[in-house]
Amino acid sequence: MKRPLVAGNWKMNGTLAETRELLGALSLEIESLAGTPVEILVIPPFTALETAAAMLRAGRLPIALGGQDLHWETKGAYTGEISGGMLRELGCTFVLVGHSERRTHFGEQGAVLRSKLEAALRDGLIPILCVGERLEERESARTEQVLDAQLDETLFAISPSAAETVVVAYEPVWAIGTGRTATPQQAEEAHRHIRRRISGRLGNDVGGRMRILYGGSVTAANAAELLSRPGVDGALVGGASLKATEFAGIVRGGSLRGA
Ligand code: PGA
Repeated sequence: MKRPLVAGNWKMNGTLAETRELLGALSLEIESLAGTPVEILVIPPFTALETAAAMLRAGRLPIALGGQDLHWETKGAYTGEISGGMLRELGCTFVLVGHSERRTHFGEQGAVLRSKLEAALRDGLIPILCVGERLEERESARTEQVLDAQLDETLFAISPSAAETVVVAYEPVWAIGTGRTATPQQAEEAHRHIRRRISGRLGNDVGGRMRILYGGSVTAANAAELLSRPGVDGALVGGASLKATEFAGIVRGGSLRGA
């Protein structure tokens, strides 16, 4: 049985005071989640990582830490950038790669994302590779084609042995931050397609083992239904991860899956 993963991507939210408040509230929820099979991950902005890491350590909280992005080089003249090694140093074990906001606002795609995946793995981080179609692509029946192209230029462009470690997040762009969640059936279909593709390229073993998360307007109210679908191995959560009770509710929804 794969361990479900629920990840909270805080995006550009979380001053140090807010970070302390949110993790403090989350630590109160954690007790009620004791025994959950869900692996819990928070992904604060870079500037809050050290504070978050210290709090998680001090409270011995069973919560992993991740970065929202990384540069593909280990160091050098790349003003404003952060390397995988720097994230590791702060206690991160995961990193997002290719979130749709990186693709849309910062033009990331293709070779850049492939290099970032390779860098994450080189630096000992588990990449969470985000893929997903836009509304017009879904409406013109191109969802699978778009997902295939996104996987081809990233996951299938790195060495197969490296690719095994990656976590994939299916995040339909039209569902991100919109309150319009994919239906459980839409999520299940997309996950099935992605997994079939991975099995075809990397073998059934890897396809079966790889965790595929759903992301896009996941809330405590819809998590259990989404996460109970076959092949939906967890959630990548934006807005709802900023409220401890909501986020804990989503973890609870995922716990049913693991039961
Ligand atoms: P959302 O964001 O949960 O606010 O829709 C999801 C994401 O961007 O990963």
